[in-house]
Amino acid sequence: MNNVKIIGVGSYAPERVVTNFELSEIVDTSDEWISSRTGIKERRITEGENTSSLAAKAALGAIKDAKIDPLELDLIILATTSPDSFTPSTACLVQAIIGADNATCFDIGAACSGFIYGLNVATQFIKTGAAKTVLVIGAEVLSKILDWEDRSTCVLFGDGAGAAILKRSETNGILSIFTGSDGKGAEFLECPAVSVKNPFVTKNHEKTEVISMNGKEVFRFAVKAMPTGIEEVLKDSPYTIDDIKYIVPHQANMRIIEHVAKKLNIDSSKFFINLDRYGNTSAATIPIALDEMSKAGLLESGDKIIIIGFGGGLTFGSALIEW
Ligand code: COA
Repeated sequence: MNNVKIIGVGSYAPERVVTNFELSEIVDTSDEWISSRTGIKERRITEGENTSSLAAKAALGAIKDAKIDPLELDLIILATTSPDSFTPSTACLVQAIIGADNATCFDIGAACSGFIYGLNVATQFIKTGAAKTVLVIGAEVLSKILDWEDRSTCVLFGDGAGAAILKRSETNGILSIFTGSDGKGAEFLECPAVSVKNPFVTKNHEKTEVISMNGKEVFRFAVKAMPTGIEEVLKDSPYTIDDIKYIVPHQANMRIIEHVAKKLNIDSSKFFINLDRYGNTSAATIPIALDEMSKAGLLESGDKIIIIGFGGGLTFGSALIEW
């Protein structure tokens, strides 16, 4: 089996910053409520750019960081809950923008765990020799599927994209990777697609195509899924949590992260946090964080980190990575 290494990362978020104060002019909320319940201060919201555009910018950043030619890519996997269209896939749209003519391209849907699911698929392709150089993207324009009158959801999310280049390598980078799903909890975090409509429909089942969430159930799921994910990737490795320099969690809510830190007795400074500036960008949170960490010089060659995500599906996943 081949080894797999992350050789480049990139990210992009729309320029428009929307603060909690601005949201309090749209819905009945306050900076105090949002900050104290979630840790979010502001998020980026697109003024028109769609998911493929954000994704392509993040991808070009990762390609530059990896110092490769787009023609070297033989696979593009794009994780999103907010694609441009049902078809073509957003991955194909990105392929055309970045000129990755030799790649096979497809999208995957695993909500906020999507980047880790994508990383897992890419890792298996490289390990088995089916691919050599893979672009994995997490990209979202969640603002187009939010109900801007629902204060319980619209304050939580933001738009953005992050990307990573994975390559067959002499040394191992993805040390272990884990994913799981629980479809029984599907109803706790939903965004319906187009309802069934045709001349033969006997009963109207129309649902509005916006995100709805049972916050308490998702919270409960997250604080169980995160410790499981951390334990799963460490259990067959020679490492303990003390060997891990950073945990890069899905950036949904500061209270979830604090809860997990306390439960596992991990110093909360080990968790990289940027949700105060982006909110929850679903599949994009982890690759955006990795890019910020890399650019800030926080990640050195040989560092061990754990990335961990959870979200709609329900889905969850984690990876132990040597940088
Ligand atoms: N501003 C002000 N008040 C708000 C509000 C907002 N943006 N959103 C909800 N409220 C109100 C509710 O209407 C409710 O009022 P009521 O008591 O008069 O009925 C009150 O605040 C408490 O609501 P509740 O839903 O019980 O709050 P909570 O303590 O559970 O916190 C979340 C809500 C969403 C912050 C919390 O459940 C959470 O973080 N869940 C996880 C969500 C998540 O991470 N989702 C993404 C996963 S990928």
